[in-house]
Formats: sequence, C-alpha cells, structure tokens
Amino acid sequence: MKNLVILISGRGSNMEAIVRACAAEGWQARVAAVIANRPDAAGLEFAASQGIATAVVDHRQFNDRESFDAALAREIDGFAPDLVVLAGFMRVLTDAFVNHYAGRMINVHPSLLPSFPGLKTHQQALDAGVRLHGASVHFVTPTLDHGPIVLQSAVPVLPGDDAAALAARVLDTEHVIYPRAVRWFVEGRIAVDGLRVTVTPPEPQWLFLDTQHASQKNAGEGA
Ligand code: GAR
Repeated sequence: MKNLVILISGRGSNMEAIVRACAAEGWQARVAAVIANRPDAAGLEFAASQGIATAVVDHRQFNDRESFDAALAREIDGFAPDLVVLAGFMRVLTDAFVNHYAGRMINVHPSLLPSFPGLKTHQQALDAGVRLHGASVHFVTPTLDHGPIVLQSAVPVLPGDDAAALAARVLDTEHVIYPRAVRWFVEGRIAVDGLRVTVTPPEPQWLFLDTQHASQKNAGEGA
C-alpha cells in the first residue's frame, strides 16, 4: 500500500479527482494526507469529508522560503509518503525541498510544457495565438515548471475563447490525466531516463480532447 500526500492551495479539484479515482479504481494506495499552505483552501473541506487527515502549513507564518519549506517537509514526512502530489500548490519551492523529494514528487501544470511556464498560462496561450493548448503532468525538478513529463493533454483553442473558457476545457483534461499518472506511479510502471518517461506496459502518454465535442459544446455555450 503506497502513501500519497497531496498539497493544495485552493479549490482542490485535481486532489478530488485523485481521491475519487483511488477509491473507485481500488488502487494499492491511500491518500494519507491533504496539506494546504492556506487555511482557507476550499479543498480541505472535501478531504476532511472523506476521512482524510488534513493539515495547514501557512506560508505567511514564516520569514523565508527555507523555513517554510522545512516546516512543510516535516509535516509531509510525518505521513511517510511514497509520492508527493502537487495539485494546484501555488508556491515556488526551494532546491533543498525539491531535491529531498527527487523522483517522488509530481505536479500538474496547465500548459503544454515547455511552453508557458509560470502563471496565467491560459492568457499566455491566447496571446501567443497557439491553436493547441493543454496540461502536463511532470516530475518536479529545481527548475520551475520543468521536469520529466509523464503525460500531456491537448485541447483546441476555439474562436471566442477567453482565459476562463480555455482554463475550464484544460481543467477537464487535468482531471483525467493526473489520476492516470498517479495510478501508473502507484503501479510501479514509470521509468525516468533524463527528461524521458516511459510507462510499462505501454499506454498512451497523451490525451487529445475530442475537438468535435469541444466545438459543439462551445457553440452551445455561445447560443
Ligand atoms: C489547476 O489548473 C492546475 O493545473 C494549476 O492550478 C489549478 C488548480 O486547480 N496549477 C498551477 O498553475 C501550478 N503552476 P485545483 O485546485 O482545482 O486542482
């Protein structure tokens, strides 16, 4: 049985998707804890309702990143994690923290990395005029929004999209690819060689949102 510790900063919809998939698909894993850096993170309520241990390490109580990250690591390590899952955890992490969890910490980022690291990724995509956008699940390395990519989803950028519409389309796919990537890790099927990740036995490490479906949905919303 593998222990998962999930870190959130807000809504926690990816955390919820992982918790639900873990139960529904009978993974050999348990979500040992959900930890937030903000006491008002909405996702804490869902986690508690599922009987999952919750904790808050409030970054505002610390003078610097080093002491916050050290306190966060102490809290995480109390749950003996096999995998640390960053799910909308909006903090830049120190190298020491990242290195402590090397090979056992993953993140979901709302862009097709290496395009659009950082914040406001959906607006970045609109401004760049790309026709495909998406999300990436990757192992965390000291370079922000960089690291071996486990799985990516691609969605079309449709006429009339604003950042909110695009974010919602991408988020739907995050809820598919993130639980899938965590399950592969739990099943011990992931190998990392440099920046390349392989899954054994092989499965597609990508997801394309059905464009026909997306266009219809978009047209419906505009009507
Ligand atoms: C998700 O879209 C996730 O990809 C993004 O924050 C959102 C969290 O939503 N993460 C980042 O931007 C990290 N750089 P959620 O709290 O509902 O899972």
